[in-house]
Order: sequence, then structure tokens, then C-alpha cells
Amino acid sequence: MGAAAAFALPLAAYAQDAQPSVTATSPDGSIVLTVSTDNDQRPTYSISRKGKLLIAPSKLGFLLTDAIAMERGFAITGSEKASADTTWEQPWGESRYVRDHHNEILVHFKQSADWGGRLMDVRFRLFDNGVGFRYEIPKQPAMTTMNIADEITEFDVASKGTAWWIPGGEWNRYEQIYQKTPIDCVSTAHTPVTMRLDDGTHLSFHEAALVDYSGYWLKHVTGGLFRTTLAPSPDGPRVSRKLPFDTPWRTIRIAPDAAGLVENNLELNLNEPNKEGDVSWFKPMKYVGIWWGMITGKWTWAEGPKHGATTERAMKTIDFAAKHHFGGVLVEGWNRGWNGNWLGHGDQFSFTRATPDFDLDKVAAYAKKKGVQLIGHNETGGDIANYEAQMEDAFRLYHSLGMNSVKTGYVADAGGINAPGDKPGTIKMEWHDGQRNVEHHLKVVKMAARYHIAIDSHEPVKDTGLRRTYPNWIDREGARGMEYNSWGKFANPPGHEATLVYTRMLSGPMDFTPGVLTLEGANGVPMASTLAKQLGLYLAIYSPIQMAADFTDNLAKFPKELDFISRVPANWSESHLIAGSVGEYAIFARKDRNSDDWYLGGVNDADQRTLTLNFDFLDPGKTYTATIYKDGEGATYLTDARHRIAIETRTFRKGDTYKLWLAPGGGAAIRLHPGK
Ligand code: NOJ
Ligand code: CA
Repeated sequence: MGAAAAFALPLAAYAQDAQPSVTATSPDGSIVLTVSTDNDQRPTYSISRKGKLLIAPSKLGFLLTDAIAMERGFAITGSEKASADTTWEQPWGESRYVRDHHNEILVHFKQSADWGGRLMDVRFRLFDNGVGFRYEIPKQPAMTTMNIADEITEFDVASKGTAWWIPGGEWNRYEQIYQKTPIDCVSTAHTPVTMRLDDGTHLSFHEAALVDYSGYWLKHVTGGLFRTTLAPSPDGPRVSRKLPFDTPWRTIRIAPDAAGLVENNLELNLNEPNKEGDVSWFKPMKYVGIWWGMITGKWTWAEGPKHGATTERAMKTIDFAAKHHFGGVLVEGWNRGWNGNWLGHGDQFSFTRATPDFDLDKVAAYAKKKGVQLIGHNETGGDIANYEAQMEDAFRLYHSLGMNSVKTGYVADAGGINAPGDKPGTIKMEWHDGQRNVEHHLKVVKMAARYHIAIDSHEPVKDTGLRRTYPNWIDREGARGMEYNSWGKFANPPGHEATLVYTRMLSGPMDFTPGVLTLEGANGVPMASTLAKQLGLYLAIYSPIQMAADFTDNLAKFPKELDFISRVPANWSESHLIAGSVGEYAIFARKDRNSDDWYLGGVNDADQRTLTLNFDFLDPGKTYTATIYKDGEGATYLTDARHRIAIETRTFRKGDTYKLWLAPGGGAAIRLHPGK
């Protein structure tokens, strides 16, 4: 049957052609998957939870640039089932052990000869709190390379509800304010996209193991119907792959509540196990630096009278770090290349040559002597051609100086990544989440691992759980961080962090850089935060490296708060969201990986509220001395009362309850130490 005939026939004519469906369930049976083909022999899947349809039949397939689409004319030729229940250990993270309990079904599809005769397998993994599936394109006679114009995987959300999302494909990459809209008012969004259905079910659409492929944006079609659209490429196809290959996993977290959405390891479980072996050379830590000086405009990255990265200032910062038990010091602007218009013009950057007023050898030796890690900084301006040419020399140099982490940066507008062209002397403009830049990031991470360097990427590609496979990829930016609070009218709104917890943070750790205790940005511009919230951020937004971002002189003016920051861990044995609502508030309880201490805290949006917290999480039989940092009476982000903080001590035992008032724009942090 030809394409034209297929359109002409009445639907009923296909009913008899429809293939039998295959089904699979999650381990507890609550989530049911049905895979089928529709009346035009297009592969489809649907998902229900506890008998209620969540994802209505949604199509699977690809548009190609050089062959007829892999869309119609498919039949299911077989399927195989498997299941697993294992527990694996993270070298660092929000929790030490992760359980991977799933059922799996691999469905084989074959297209009829007149539609191209291609083979396509789809592997589904069903967990009790989510579903992941990927295409596996086997070796086959019909094609050797797949040139993908777009992926047309659908997600037909069967109920109404609310969505939290940022637009995909816009100039500022992932650094945008989250929008809260009805589901059918989403346009094209970066993932993770969070939805709360009217019955309270929480969903998150994202992907896992984005390797050698373009990131997808979730494109709204109509009503509850969405489909994938891949980040563009300067070449014809958005993705080009030799067969056989697997796509990244398309993931849907499915949970009855906010905690189930957050305490959910779907993407990590869908990534490959650690390929780097022992990474104990990287230790989670907190760090300070001179960064806030450049962000507020007091100092500059570029050389000149206001140059921030001087030898003397770096050594002073190292002294501060050593005195207050910070593991690391970040000194940006230490290298050559910042003097021109570096934004989007990264070809001038050297990653091995320091400015004349910065003695790298001396600073690195001083850091080593003081037991502090000097954190490298490699801003590329998005010029990955320049960076790829230098990175091995750079990592070798840093390793020889005893450094073991580097913050990278890709400041360039979306679509402004400068990659080597096909011929010498030519360039290609790529997207931050296009196939070429996805490849670039992994090249950097793998090369860095060879020199025992951990990578913190800013202006990155979104995280898709690759830290499991490459645990030296410790964190990323990939959202609006603290820096925006320095920039007056561009500041983050008071509910920003309580939104990040349920959106961006579902993808992985973020270098948000909390800890601006003066609550002031450039020219003294006030932030939409209370002082207690700055401490709560260390519990709300996870990263294995956490900055105390304020000027060190300012941090010293807040000795009690500084004491909390220098104690709060960046590595946990378990983490639980004990109170929270998407975009409104988030309170976590986390247990230190290296002691029996518990920490509790988090952030609030613009509306004050009182929560009754249950201390059920504490270990039984112990009495804990708690140091509580909470919003003081009358505190509000709206006035100078933002600095009102109440610091108290009391004891808690498992099962105690506690009433906690959160100010408008507020937060809280509690350290619980066993013993009196
Ligand atoms: C933007 C990053 O977000 C910031 O942290 C960094 O300091 C500048 N780029 C310069 O690399
Ligand atoms: Ca940034």
C-alpha cells in the first residue's frame, strides 16, 4: 500500500490491520504501559497509573533528511521482557545508595517495504515512579546512517493541570524565569518540564543519558499533546548517527506528590554505571572566591586598574578559606583573553597563560600549603574550537599544580557556539544543546578525568544524569543563579528558588552560588531574600561544591551565619523533601554522609507561611541539639527587615513536631547534632 492510498482509505479499513498490543507494568503494578500501532500503522504507547489514563496513545518515530520518515507502516514483530532490582552507590550526592527497581519491555518494530522497510526497537523501563524509553536502531540492510531531521515522539497528557517551564530555543539558553501556566499554554519548552495535574499527580518530562545526540525541547502541539523537537544543527540533519545506536531515554517522572517528584532517581537509574572507577580524588566541598567582585562590577575579569585576579587578593582569599574551613577558592579572570569583547568571541582566551599580575605557580603553591583547592576557571565564550585545542595542556598544567576542579563557561547566545568547521579555517555555529556541543562537553569531561579534574560547567547543556557514568562532571549552572540578583531589574523573583527545586533541580546538581549575606548586588541593589533564606539555600539546592558567594570581608561580618555555612555538608547519605509545594516552598531534611548530623532547611516564595514540621526522619533513641536559623519576627524580603534572623538552640527527638514560620522571601536552616 503506497503513501497516497494510505491517506485515501477510510479508517475502518485499517482496523483489521492493527497489530496486537503489548503491555508491561511497573514492579508494584501501578503503572501500566501499552504499546501498539494505530490505524495508519504508526507505533504508539500509552501510560496509565492506578487505572487512570495519564498519557493517551502517543506516536513514536522520526523524520529523516534523506529518506522517507520512520513513522507509518510499522508492525510489532516481537517483544521481550526483563526486570531488575539492584542498589548502587554514588561516590557523592544527595543520597548514598540508589535503588533501581524496574520492569522492562523491548518492543521490535518493522516497517513494510513500501514505507522503507526499516527496523526500530523501543526499550521501555517501568519504575513505580516513572517511565523511561529509548529507541534502539539496530544494524539493518535498509540504512547505515540515520540522518534525523527531527524526532517526533509524542506525549499526550490526558488530564488538565498546571505547568512550570522555560522556553526552549530562546537567546538566553536556560537562564530564564520560570513560567507557571495551564498545561495547554506551554509553548516550546526546555526540559525538565514540570506538570501538576488537577488530581494532584506530579509529572516531569525530561531525558536521560544525552550522549552523541541533540537535546530535545518539548513542543506543544494542541491541548495536552506535546512532541519532541531536537535542538537545531548548522547541517541538514539535527542528529546524524551510524547504525547501530541508541537514543537518549525519554523520561516521565510520575508521582502522587511533590516529594515523590523530587525524591526520584529515574534519570540516574537510566544512565550507565560509573565508567571512571575510583574518583575519591574529588571531595565535595564549599568554596569562596573573588567572583562577587566581578558580578557586582567592583572588580573586572579584564586586566587594568580594577583587575580582580591579583596574586595578593588570591592569597588573601586562600587565608580566609583556610581559617573558615572552606575547601576551595575560585579566582576568575586569572588568565589572558578577557581584555576584548570576549562575550561570544572566545578565540583570545588562553587556558595556560596567566595575566602579569597573577602568579599562578605561587598562588597554587600557597593554596597547597594551606590545604585549600585552587579551582580553575575556563571561560570559553562559547568557542569550543579554541578550548578543544588547549584543554589537554590546560588540564595537565592544573594537575601538575595540585588542582582538581575547573569551572568552565560558555557565555554565548543560543546558537552561538563556535565549533571547528569541516575544512581548516572554517567554523560552524552550534547550539548549546546540539549534537556537536553535547559531544564537546563529554570530550572535556573525559579528558579532565584523565588528569583528575572535576568539571562544573556554566552555560552548559542540561544535565541528564550523566554524573552517574562520569562522576567528575560534578555540577552545572543551566538556570538563573545568584548572579541575577546583582543585576537590579533582572533579579530573580522571590519564588525562583522554590521553583528551581521542582524544575531545573530534577535534572541534577546546580552551582547556584548561595551565601550573599549582605543581600546586596551591584550598587547596593537589595535582593528578594531574607538572611535566613541564604542559609536555607544550602539545603534546598544541591551541589557537591557550594559557594559562599559574598565578598569574604562581608562573610566575616556575619560570624554566626558563616559558622553555619562552613559546617553544612555538600555530600549526604540521604535526603528527603519533608514539606513542599511546587513554586511555593521546599524544606529538606538531609543526613550528613560523614557524621550522624542531620540538617533541615529550605526556601519560601513571596507569601509568608507557617509549617508544622515532623521530625520523624531523625534516628531513633537519640537526642539532638539543634541550632536553628530562622526568619526573625517581622522579617520580609521587601524591606530592610530582610536581615532579621532568629538564632536559637533547643533539643529534638524523633517524632517531635515543630512550627516554623517562613517570612515573605524567607527560609530557614537547622543543624541537628546528636548529643546535648
Ligand atoms: C557567566 C557565569 O554564570 C559566571 O559565573 C561567570 O563568572 C561569568 N560567566 C564569566 O565566566
Ligand atoms: Ca550564567
